[in-house]
Amino acid sequence: MGKLFEGQVALVTGAGGGLGRATAISFAQEGAKVAVCDLNEGPVSETVAMLQNLNADAYGEAFDITDETRAEAFVDGVVARWGRLDAAFNNAGISTEMPMTPWGEGFDMVMDVNARSVMVCMRAELRHMAAAGRGAIVNTSSVAGMSGLSGPGYCGSKHAVIGLTRSAAMAYATQGVRVNAVCPGAIVTPMTEAAAKDPQAAAIMAQMHPMGRMGQAQEVADAVIFLCSSKASFITGHPLAVDGGYLAR
Ligand SMILES: NC(=O)c1ccc[n+]([C@@H]2O[C@H](COP(=O)([O-])OP(=O)(O)OC[C@H]3O[C@@H](n4cnc5c(N)ncnc54)[C@H](O)[C@@H]3O)[C@@H](O)[C@H]2O)c1
Repeated sequence: MGKLFEGQVALVTGAGGGLGRATAISFAQEGAKVAVCDLNEGPVSETVAMLQNLNADAYGEAFDITDETRAEAFVDGVVARWGRLDAAFNNAGISTEMPMTPWGEGFDMVMDVNARSVMVCMRAELRHMAAAGRGAIVNTSSVAGMSGLSGPGYCGSKHAVIGLTRSAAMAYATQGVRVNAVCPGAIVTPMTEAAAKDPQAAAIMAQMHPMGRMGQAQEVADAVIFLCSSKASFITGHPLAVDGGYLAR
């Protein structure tokens, strides 16, 4: 069988590790040229090296995703370099609220990174995709985007990602561009590393999921690849739970 993204171009934000890196690698394995970005140079370079080891055309940039000018320039730069943009995974995010954090503290920062940056990146991506009459976007929400889990910044921003996803899906439905979201449960990534290393916390997180375990980054990457691919050609505006049954309880 041919590769799903042969001759195509994909970009991934927050690709210095975790879900972003796993998804960037999957895009490369499926034949795409892949552009990645993240906050710091070291993790970006590591991901680019991994992609190049798969013989993929790849490059990366390090910048803060809340820097609107840099974020737009990154998206425009991908199209300037490779002449097209077929798939985008807007995934950079933070989870800074701990159970003991006073309710509402740090709200603006979490909203900026997790929600506003998704709108800014989508606005640039949609411009190019609509002009070409094709493209697919996936945004990273969370089970916290469909339930009351977590603090107001994380929960509110992840709900916002679903709203942004649906709004963009409606606006571009007739222009050949599909927009969806993934809603992961607890996944083993650097974000959950500390908790996953504590046996008691790891057991609690595993038990939250009917499948009795945390998810793996590859399980989310596979869902993103599916949603961006032609196999999902009639799916738009959908928040897809990748959560071992968490939201079905
Ligand atoms: N791991 C989980 O259990 C889980 C569950 C649901 C949703 N998510 C979401 O998945 C996404 C990816 O998270 P992950 O689990 O892979 O963790 P992660 O921490 O490995 O990945 C997030 C990436 O975003 C980058 N980032 C954060 N702030 C940034 C900024 N201002 N500018 C540029 N890059 C920035 C980080 O450097 C990091 O590499 C996030 O949006 C997160 O909220 C994760």
